[in-house]
Amino acid sequence: MPLRKDDPERLVSAVRSEDESSFELKLRPRLLHEFIGQQKAKEQLSIALEAARTRGEALDHVLLFGPPGLGKTTLATIIANELNVGFQQTSGPALQIQGDLTAILTNVRERQVLFLDEIHRLQPVLEEKLYTALEDYKLDIIIGQGPAARTHVMDIKPFTFVAATTRPGLLSSPLRSRFGILLRLEFYSDDDLRFVVERSAEVLGIPIDHEGAAEIAMRSRGTPRIANRLLRRVRDYAQVRGSGIIDRATAEQALKLLEVDAHGFDELDRRLLLTIIEKYDGGPVGLNTLAASLAEEEDALEEVYEPFLIQRGFLDRTPRGRVATRLAYEHLGVPLPRKGMLF
Ligand SMILES: Nc1ncnc2c1ncn2[C@@H]1O[C@H](COP(=O)(O)OP(=O)(O)O)[C@@H](O)[C@H]1O
Ligand SMILES: [Mg+2]
Repeated sequence: MPLRKDDPERLVSAVRSEDESSFELKLRPRLLHEFIGQQKAKEQLSIALEAARTRGEALDHVLLFGPPGLGKTTLATIIANELNVGFQQTSGPALQIQGDLTAILTNVRERQVLFLDEIHRLQPVLEEKLYTALEDYKLDIIIGQGPAARTHVMDIKPFTFVAATTRPGLLSSPLRSRFGILLRLEFYSDDDLRFVVERSAEVLGIPIDHEGAAEIAMRSRGTPRIANRLLRRVRDYAQVRGSGIIDRATAEQALKLLEVDAHGFDELDRRLLLTIIEKYDGGPVGLNTLAASLAEEEDALEEVYEPFLIQRGFLDRTPRGRVATRLAYEHLGVPLPRKGMLF
């Protein structure tokens, strides 16, 4: 029985239970030097931070983009901590009316960080309202009603706008051009993820050795959030069935029980690739058709599942649709179609 897409027990889910959110909060690095990996983004950011500190000005606006769980929200909070300024958070879907945005913008404090998550889901009217605020720190507000209404231009405090998105391609170019610093987060290497696991284990007081951490890292889809999720479940297993210490054997047994395979595939990854292979002869198949076959939402497939499968070479995104690669057949143990048919 497949888990529902919003079930927090699902390994790759972008949805978090309350329990997991508080657990993540505990594990969140506070300063840039504690943030593991992402050398390119970190270097770019540390130069910009240093320059802003030297000039005593607000940091340029920052756009963070990349798949879920790679550290966008974490970096937004790190920026505020590094600058020693206030931090306020909202999101595209949470902002429903102009008044909400106006209230937030008129109340921003000098140099503070205003973090807007899921900016690709911001309504277009609100997006336009942001433009002058971001560019000139000015806000058009309408006073009065009907024929007596007047537009008043109000100054707001210089602040740093930090936005995050899993779908940078959906941002309009005027919006994108408002950001001075663009930081792309990439999937993590297995080594970096091992550090993430070891750091989290230390914070939580979980005994683990290098091999145990490496085993979890390898199956975490290049994603710290998943590494932390797996660590938590492997810890439960180690306490109940093992000696309490996470070594390679314990990690392997626990992950096998959780049905996480050597590539970190979960049940939907396998179902997705098998559907393309068995139902659509390996593809190409359109995303909407695929989503319907799997009874999943297109967004979840495109934002959460596909980036990893594509990056690891199991899936190709072509103009005519999704195609399962040779690696996918091999990994799933499905014989390749006759030569000349597909490859
Ligand atoms: N570079 C990193 N080093 C250590 N932990 C990280 C790193 N990036 C993310 N994490 C952990 O992964 C979790 C998810 O990160 P988050 O910032 O919420 O991702 P996103 O906002 O991109 O979905 C956080 O709780 C944090 O502890
Ligand atoms: Mg986030």
